[in-house]
Amino acid sequence: MTSAAADLSSSTGPHTRIDHFISMPAARADAWRGLTADARRWAAGKADRAAVERAFADIVVLEEFHAYPGARLMATLRDRLAAGSAEGFRNLAERVSQAVVTRSYKHDEGDWDVAESAADRMPDLGLPAHGSGGQHRPFFEMLLVSPHGGTRGAQQSAELRKLRRSEDAFIYETVPVGSFEDAICAAIMNPGIAAVTIYEGFDFASHHDAPVLRSVIAARGIDAADVDEGDLALGLASELKRLRPELDIYLLSDRKVESLAGHPQAGALRRVLYSVEEMLELHLSVLEGVAERFRTPFFDNLKHYATRPISTFHALPIARGKSVFKSDWIRDMGEFYGLNIFLAESSATTGGLDSLLEPTGNIKEAQEMAARAFGADRCFFVTNGTSTSNKMVHQAVVAPGEIVILDRNCHKSHHYGMVLGGAQPLYVEAFPMTEYSMYGAVPLASIKQALLDLKAEGRLDRVRMVDLTNCTFDGHIYNTRRVMEECLAIKPDLVFLWDEAWFGFARFSPVLRPRTAMGAAAAIEAWMHDPASVAAYETQQAELGENPSRETLLATRLIPDPRQIRLRVYQTNSTHKSMSSLRQGSMILVKDVDYHTVESQFREAVFTHASTSPNQQLIASLDIARRQMELEGYGLVMNAIEISLSIRREINSHPLISKYFKVLGAEEMVPASYRQSGFSDFLTPGTTWADQIRSMNEDEFCLDPTRMTLVCGTAGFDGTEFKKLLADDYDIQLNKTSRNSVLLQSNINNTRSDIAQLLRVLLDISNAIEKRLAEGGEAGRVAFFARVKSLMEDVPDLPDFSHFHDAFRGDAGEMTVEGDMRTAFFAAYDPAACEYVPLFGEECDRRLAEGPEMVSANFVIPYPPGFPIMVPGQVITHETIDFMRKLDVKEIHGFNREKGLRLIRIEAVTAKSAR
Ligand SMILES: Cc1ncc(COP(=O)(O)O)c(C=O)c1O
Repeated sequence: MTSAAADLSSSTGPHTRIDHFISMPAARADAWRGLTADARRWAAGKADRAAVERAFADIVVLEEFHAYPGARLMATLRDRLAAGSAEGFRNLAERVSQAVVTRSYKHDEGDWDVAESAADRMPDLGLPAHGSGGQHRPFFEMLLVSPHGGTRGAQQSAELRKLRRSEDAFIYETVPVGSFEDAICAAIMNPGIAAVTIYEGFDFASHHDAPVLRSVIAARGIDAADVDEGDLALGLASELKRLRPELDIYLLSDRKVESLAGHPQAGALRRVLYSVEEMLELHLSVLEGVAERFRTPFFDNLKHYATRPISTFHALPIARGKSVFKSDWIRDMGEFYGLNIFLAESSATTGGLDSLLEPTGNIKEAQEMAARAFGADRCFFVTNGTSTSNKMVHQAVVAPGEIVILDRNCHKSHHYGMVLGGAQPLYVEAFPMTEYSMYGAVPLASIKQALLDLKAEGRLDRVRMVDLTNCTFDGHIYNTRRVMEECLAIKPDLVFLWDEAWFGFARFSPVLRPRTAMGAAAAIEAWMHDPASVAAYETQQAELGENPSRETLLATRLIPDPRQIRLRVYQTNSTHKSMSSLRQGSMILVKDVDYHTVESQFREAVFTHASTSPNQQLIASLDIARRQMELEGYGLVMNAIEISLSIRREINSHPLISKYFKVLGAEEMVPASYRQSGFSDFLTPGTTWADQIRSMNEDEFCLDPTRMTLVCGTAGFDGTEFKKLLADDYDIQLNKTSRNSVLLQSNINNTRSDIAQLLRVLLDISNAIEKRLAEGGEAGRVAFFARVKSLMEDVPDLPDFSHFHDAFRGDAGEMTVEGDMRTAFFAAYDPAACEYVPLFGEECDRRLAEGPEMVSANFVIPYPPGFPIMVPGQVITHETIDFMRKLDVKEIHGFNREKGLRLIRIEAVTAKSAR
């Protein structure tokens, strides 16, 4: 087998690394390039046929799972190889290779033909890239699973091809396979597949060797010996849907289709058809299914709106563009942006448009489609970023005085949301990664501890929400299902807010999806309806006994009572951060059985925070981002992961670059105690896809491979300095930095050229360091290593949250540290109640030693690391001051360097409240 297919098929040998599995498209392109190189050598008499035969044998296996080049071109290649036609083989292999790499076969009919020139081509291949109106027709592939896959599938494919009409909006080719295992392989390997048709009667096992795939299928409890034909078809449909929920699946059966359609597993199917008579019906259904995902209700209407002659007598003079294009002075704005953006702007919510604040038409529909795509019950488009989405959820779900268990290291929108809404934060700490000046994620034990403390004090009813960031900025992914289950075991009606600002794309990766809020919520929902769950709960209750100790509860993986749980899950995502939405495009996803209890509050929250003039292009881009992810998200995310694995491997294995730089692997980002499965890293030799799935199922934290912490302190740069160097000198932009690292992020936009560029730049910088060290003499070397030591070793301890001052504890209990942050925040509005103490003065040291306690008047958030080291009402401790004094960053929000720390004068606040 090829290296690309091998990770699915072999658990030993050089091709077993997980990246080979995830790197399907790139590995496929490389395999074709390798074959053409061998073919060229053969044609030039520099190599014999055997090398070409070996390379071709590998490619044959891979191509079984793709529609292009298809059986005819592969057979021609095989014939030419067998006949010793080196020249003919090379010509065709080069053409096919080019088509595979550039994907031109999607629109160039000539790529499908054996003949070299258009004059010799067969007339009726029937793959016109353009439909009747001359419009471009997107191309997709349909997986066709049937008995005797190759032969019967080829006939069915030919029949389907005959049904093509010029008015079809899309064009597709089929990928015929004959077994359950091959169908799973094809769905994983081939991102071009957008629909699946299953005929009953196919085999279970592939004729290929596939032990890793088999172990994964077996771990899912699927056993060929157990299932009959019909169940196998439904079982395949369920498994495919689990891997790629966006796929439309059709089942063709010659049994009683009526009873099949009513089967409990039939939910995975889009349609059941009676196989003997339904070819045209199938063809039309397949096209309609894709059309349904393609449709973008708001964007489609906006485009239509832009074509109509409309006179506007309301605000927004820029709409229609007349004030721009008629101007002598700002016409370049029009030339730069183009006419459409002005034609598509309006402040109206009628005339084919809709209102974001109270949608009833195409925005409502677009939101419903997004909810479906992202696995939620409801979706709200937000045009002011996830900063606003988070505040909306806080306001809608939590009442003043209620407690929210909150990661102190979370984005500031949560902290501000609590100030505005008056909820009381009970901060829980993420595990520190002091050596890189960053935090990880919050251990489940800390969250359970907080809940158990509240329970012990009889105040559990006050907790409304657990609010966590998944994944974190640096890529720590929670075990969302386990967190929710264990918390629900302590309080069954808790609401969860998962800030997935960075993680929206994860829905479209089968490996990452179970760790998303909505992926986990779906799993919990299914578990709740499984009769075995009540038994599992009762068994555990019996084992725990009447009054289990806190230690026992902390040490036990708690099972909630499925009859008691109220599943209430909210997710926010910055669609603009990981998908094709314009900046500030964000979504709130809701799966809340008790949504009706907060519905009116939710509307108020939207009214409070949303602009009454939302940007039409932003809304349209959210609609479009959904379309894209449903139709090609799987492949795009696969590509983003593949790029990141490539970057990780290339940097860490390059002989020179790796002397100065390193991308931290999972084993460095996640302490071993949180990697219970024993998973070490994606690139550890011998790691397979099955290992990664086990890690995703079992480990407390996993690492999102697309978020790469690149250590630059070892090259003598602090994060901010290195970020600036990359931006100023090399036009490479990145986002977050720490004292000794920068964060690189791969996304659906990146290409292999980006990897090459990054490596070239790192090599350039490494060479410059080498040169400096070689030419700088002993003093230069000493200075360099001293700088490296300082960046890598003299790292300040990260300060934990201390506690709120008693004046801002509200009615908090003894054991927990929540506080009334809102009162502290607004107390500081009175200048007489505030004072300043210089950070580096004696006064500060004296106050720390002798009091009175220093209490922060506001949030103080240094960038990096970007979390609030002080919040309003927090008592400032030695640890915080030490950290601040060692901070060497320029940007510290909430801190005035000239005046010093802004503090609340407690005596003024208490005197005022006594009045
Ligand atoms: C975890 C997290 N949540 C929310 C936000 C805010 O998102 P937005 O920029 O879409 O407002 C950010 C921004 O970086 C973030 O990192």
